[in-house]
Amino acid sequence: MWIDRYQQIGKTFESATVSIQPIIFTIEPENIKTILATDFDSFELGSRRRTLMGPIVGPGIFSNDGAAWKHSRALIRPNFTKMMISDLSTFETHFQNLLKALPAADPHSGLIQVDLMPLFFRMTLDSASETLLGSSMAFNSQLDLPGSASMRFMDAFDYVQKKIHLRNVLDRGWMKPFGLVYTLAKGSKKDQFEQACEVVHSIIDPMILEFLRRPVTKKDPHSKYVFLEEMAKVTRDPLELRYEILNVLMAGRDTTAALLTNTFFVLARRPDLWDRVRAEVEETFHGRLPEYETMRNMKQVKNLLSECLRFYPPVPFNARTAKANTTLPRGGGPDGKSPLFIKKGQQVDYHVYCLHRSPDVFGEDAHLFRPERWEDPVLRPGWGYIPFNGGARICLGQQFALTEASYVLVRLMQEFERMDNRDPVEAWREQIGLVTKTRNGTSVALKRAGSR
Ligand code: HEM
Repeated sequence: MWIDRYQQIGKTFESATVSIQPIIFTIEPENIKTILATDFDSFELGSRRRTLMGPIVGPGIFSNDGAAWKHSRALIRPNFTKMMISDLSTFETHFQNLLKALPAADPHSGLIQVDLMPLFFRMTLDSASETLLGSSMAFNSQLDLPGSASMRFMDAFDYVQKKIHLRNVLDRGWMKPFGLVYTLAKGSKKDQFEQACEVVHSIIDPMILEFLRRPVTKKDPHSKYVFLEEMAKVTRDPLELRYEILNVLMAGRDTTAALLTNTFFVLARRPDLWDRVRAEVEETFHGRLPEYETMRNMKQVKNLLSECLRFYPPVPFNARTAKANTTLPRGGGPDGKSPLFIKKGQQVDYHVYCLHRSPDVFGEDAHLFRPERWEDPVLRPGWGYIPFNGGARICLGQQFALTEASYVLVRLMQEFERMDNRDPVEAWREQIGLVTKTRNGTSVALKRAGSR
């Protein structure tokens, strides 16, 4: 729908279809660069994200603006060191759990039939929790039984995110009165959303308190990197630690899982791509476990993930609000090429999904999934390609996410020689919640490497 609108109206337009206050929508790279980088100080996230996400993630890097955001960013940023990202052993542990969670192979065909989507969402929760909290407190949602802390945390966290998206869609514009009626009718009773937030907090809080009670000892320089340990050197406030951990989890877990899910959705439908990437995996590692540097320089793996992030960007749209009167360089005048006045308080939304399919940036074949395009030296999309955002609030977990996605891709291709689609619906059906993912999951049949 949005692609059609941009095609019909232009790259920047004002509309009030999803709101009472008109919103300015843009997919003009120059405007996006202005909002996120060159005129960063004139824009903020605004109160909407805080209102929607506040009950679960409170104040933190993903929800704060201004000085509070700068404080959070300074606290979190030093954690993303090369050492932390390049330690692949955490990913191997959770990959092994994913293999254990696979159903048994069919005795006749030898094929393993499975929907990979829930396995990827569990794996990214477990690996992120290990990096954030340490191995002794990590979740093991892949193998734990229903009723365990991991499963209760995962179910509550998933429920909260689904509800945030729903509230974002419903509690605005012409739907707002319904939201108000609901709030009045509910009174002080806690609804399912609030209860789920409480479940998440009640599981994470004792972990943080237990950690803070431990005596501070000198860390073995060879031991694994743990966010909580590093952050606790700066703050020992349990609430601040709770919220920053949940902010990073919210930013990094579903996004990485969506990238993996969508990549395997495509691979299941493109055996040519599977063979191409798998040949590179075989030639590079000959069955060895991947090493960081070599893995991150694999051309086919990189092209595939770059194209998946272009075609199905996990964060499909984003919004900012003007803090002061300002201008955007494009969108004004009869041809839309003049600057556009932006009044203080004006909301500006940008659709990464539509931007990434813009022929002006990616050429006439922008609507095709073509990983080879990334080999073209002429292709320099700049602000036309922003899966991880850009400017001052650029994603801090980009390298972590690309490492995890590459690792899972390489390891699955080492373990399985073939993957067939088992979803009767060939076409992409999208589910846009807080992230873009395939609505039908990724149902496949896997054939073990070396099996007959
Ligand atoms: C494919 C996976 C990922 C994608 C597509 C992605 C995308 C994004 C985007 C678009 C933003 C900007 C949000 C905004 O400003 O409105 C962002 C911010 C952020 N991301 Fe990621 N992300 C991914 C994975 C991760 C991971 C794995 C982590 C951490 C382990 C992470 C941590 C963060 C943090 C902390 C921010 C907030 C930065 C700030 O506001 O200063 N992300 N990400």
